[in-house]
Parts: sequence; C-alpha cells; structure tokens
Amino acid sequence: MEIFKTKATLKAFLEPLKASGLKIALVPTMGALHNGHISLIKLAQQNADIIICSIFVNPTQFTDPKDLEKYPRPIEHDLSMLQQAGCNGVFMPDVKEMYPEKEDWHIDLGKAEFLLEGEFRKGHYQGVTQIVHKLFDAVKPDVAMFGQKDFQQVLMIKNMLKHFDLPITIITCPIIREDDGLAMSSRNIHLSGEDRRHALVLNQSLKFVIDHFDQYSIPELEEKGKSFYENIPGVELDYFTIANGESLEPAKSKTENNLVALVAAKVGSTRLIDNMIIK
Ligand code: PAJ
Repeated sequence: MEIFKTKATLKAFLEPLKASGLKIALVPTMGALHNGHISLIKLAQQNADIIICSIFVNPTQFTDPKDLEKYPRPIEHDLSMLQQAGCNGVFMPDVKEMYPEKEDWHIDLGKAEFLLEGEFRKGHYQGVTQIVHKLFDAVKPDVAMFGQKDFQQVLMIKNMLKHFDLPITIITCPIIREDDGLAMSSRNIHLSGEDRRHALVLNQSLKFVIDHFDQYSIPELEEKGKSFYENIPGVELDYFTIANGESLEPAKSKTENNLVALVAAKVGSTRLIDNMIIK
C-alpha cells in the first residue's frame, strides 16, 4: 500500500494506471477508521480496480473548534486497517497541501443544505463539498464511495457534482452497525459506558418507525419516535423526523415513494446521527 502526502506524488502514481485503463475509486474519510469505513473499501473493490482512501480531518467542515481539536487521529491503526483491507493507496495530505491559502468557497447546494444538519451546523456542507471537490480534483476517480450513515452529506455531494458537472459515479453504502444496533462512528469512542448504553436509543427509535410504519400516521410516528428520548439522562434530541429522501423536507404523505427517518442527538457531550430508509 502506497502512502501519499502530496497531490503531485498521488497524481504521478495514478496517471499510468489510468492510462492503462484501470478504474479508480476514491473513499474519502477523516480517519479514526472502523468497520463502516472498511465496508466502503470493500464495496469499492467490487466497483473499481484501484482503491485510494483519503484521510484528512478537514478543518473547514467543523463548526465547533473543540470538536476539531478532539477529533481522534489514530493514524498507525488506520493504516494497518487499510493495509489489511487491501487498499492500494492512502492520500493523507496536511492542511497546507489542501488549503495553501484561505479560500472563500460558496456554492449553491439547494434548499436541503439548510435543513437538519445544516440547521445545527451552519456552513458544514460548504466545508464538506469544498474538501470533497479538492479530493475529487486530486484523484479524478471514476467512482467515489460514501456512507448512507451521513444521508444528507450524500445528497449535498451529488448536488455539488451536478453544479460542476463532474463525471464521477457516487455509490452509497449501507450503514454498518455494532451488534447491538449502534451505528459505527469515529465519535463513539468519546461515549462513556453509560452514554454508550443510552446511545442505543437512536437505533431503537428509528427501528420503531420502520416496524410500525403501517400502523400510525407520520405525525404519530414522529411523536412516538421522539418519546423514546424523554427521561434519558444526558441525552438531548436535536431532531427526529420523517422526511422526503430527496428534498429532506418533512414528509407530507405516507404515499411518497422516497421516505427516510433521520435523527440527531447529543449523548453526553457527543453528538450522534443516524437514519433508516423507510422506502
Ligand atoms: P468520515 O466521518 O470519516 O466518514 C467517511 C465515510 O464513511 C463517509 O462517507 C461516511 O458516511 C462513511 N461512514 C461513516 N460511518 C459509517 C457506518 N457506520 N457505516 C457505513 N459508512 C459509514 O464523512 C466524512 O468523514 C467527511 O465528511 C468526508 C466526506 C471525508 C469529507 O471530509
């Protein structure tokens, strides 16, 4: 597995491979890898010949400087996981390589940018699309893998691709969960033992919606979903909603054919998100 710190060395590695007709996949990450990330590598291997994983904790997408500071960076562990998964190359630039100078990035990502996560993390998707655009530009992949775990992020990246008319296929990968249902996340290591147990409420409340979708109206499902969060010490719900999977606007009717239940909650001091596609 090759490691690249600069765009130039990465480009020099990829150019002959592309010229020989090999298909390149990019798996963008911020490191602190877990099996959710590795599932993206595995799926990439089914869709391309050469897999590049990027590890870059992108400062422009953090709305809370403390969150950026405490973001875990277990680089040796990450590299050994990627090596074991059969990843071909890792792009791990430093901040100066990606942001040699300050840039004012602002693109139109559509109304959905300001809903859900966008409401709680102002400017977050401008930062995400800014770095993903830079990574796409550095790798020029044929396909790029993203997790459904960050449902809104996938929509924003697709909107960014449309905006620039980039010929990259986005593949959305299913959410990988721990045995007890908690969605894997790099942030889970910040959960104390008690928080870890409380965090199961995200999966349980979403599962309730999936299991009872035929029984209740949308407002009832949302109300019942939200009630899971009452009286759990240290858990604070940001949103629990059933939304249209394209616009992210609140679902108007159960007959819409693209519906998703999404949740964000603070568990202790850790903010977690999760979702389940209803249909
Ligand atoms: P990060 O949080 O490291 O996630 C990298 C990719 O892994 C994302 O596409 C995310 O959706 C996916 N992922 C995370 N947890 C997952 C799980 N439990 N199951 C399946 N996939 C999962 O998302 C980012 O980094 C950044 O915003 C990034 C796109 C790299 C831009 O900086």
